[in-house]
Amino acid sequence: MVSKRVKKVSHSGIRAFFDLVLGMPEVISLGVGEPDFVTPWRVREKAITSLEEGFTSYTSNKGLKVLREDIAYHLKKKYALRYSPEDEILITTGVSEGLDLALRAILDPKDKVIVVSPHYVAYPALVELNLGEVLFLQTREKEGFKINTKKLEQLLVKYKPKAMILNYPSNPTGITYTENELKKLWRVLSDKEMLIISDEIYEDIFYKESHVCFASLKGAKKKVVLLNGFSKGCAMTGFRIGYACGPKEIIEAMMKIHSFGMLCAPIISQIAASEALKAKKEINLMVKEYKLRRDFIVKELNRIGLHTVMPEGAFYCFSCIEKFKLGDLDFAKALLLQENVAVIPGSAFGISYGGFIRISYANTLENLKEAVVRIERFLKNL
Ligand SMILES: Cc1ncc(COP(=O)(O)O)c(C=O)c1O
Repeated sequence: MVSKRVKKVSHSGIRAFFDLVLGMPEVISLGVGEPDFVTPWRVREKAITSLEEGFTSYTSNKGLKVLREDIAYHLKKKYALRYSPEDEILITTGVSEGLDLALRAILDPKDKVIVVSPHYVAYPALVELNLGEVLFLQTREKEGFKINTKKLEQLLVKYKPKAMILNYPSNPTGITYTENELKKLWRVLSDKEMLIISDEIYEDIFYKESHVCFASLKGAKKKVVLLNGFSKGCAMTGFRIGYACGPKEIIEAMMKIHSFGMLCAPIISQIAASEALKAKKEINLMVKEYKLRRDFIVKELNRIGLHTVMPEGAFYCFSCIEKFKLGDLDFAKALLLQENVAVIPGSAFGISYGGFIRISYANTLENLKEAVVRIERFLKNL
């Protein structure tokens, strides 16, 4: 009964690996893609009182007006970006839904979409589920996992893609782009007839230069669908809440699909999200903690022989295991079984990345310290 389209798409490599981890209580998991913090109290409290006050209904399909206004204000203040809450902002159930809606809204069968690799696991799957064709644009460790604009230009000229999915700070490498790098990228993209879907879900988690929103580059806004949400920065994965901003025509098309398939995002999560936009202090405290952990883990991984590019955002690092002559799956399995440390095989993020593992440092410093001891012992015994 299952459609050919769905059969063609393989399961997430992460899920397959984590089926193994389940039932191993002693494991230190450096695999998870979510904050280890609970949602800040002021946000949880807002959700609790909203329930007590009886906010249990549907909202407008677009999402609560007050939340759309808060998001418009946030984007104006932070990036001098002006989006109309009326028809250029849609509240979604996480960036996941926003991504699916954007692709569904624009793709006809066989339309091509550029996915930058290594990539978040859902991108190629969602393109294929929406009958599009994926064009992988691979980045290399020696180029800091950043997009090579010459290679991008070649893909654009040869295949004339309908869209490109951008993600920075990146899952799984943690790299991000400076304003100048983004401008260089935009110069290559600006004259093409295409849409840029910019997944900026890690916008709050950066360690050096502030995040620059792609849509805020001069002339870019009309060709960008900005996707963002509260899962990572405000530790709200379970609330399932995000938003999409973009040209009226695209947001209207996304809204149409959303109004039939989802109706609206949960009202409690929407109320909580408005509060999350005010939780700057709490978010900064979490980012400060991630930075401490990043500084520790990257230094230690390089010391014990796992070459790791310094991540500038998110809470991941992508470490090279090539010299150990063990495939990423075997490496991760052996590390799990011998030392009870879970990491994600790099090939989950693109078939060419079997020489890497993704390590998430969304874990306590204490656990990270113990994990380093275990990984070092594991490497010595290889
Ligand atoms: C790059 C990226 N985009 C989107 C998501 C999903 O976000 P949400 O929880 O808002 O659906 C994730 C989650 O890991 C992610 O890493």
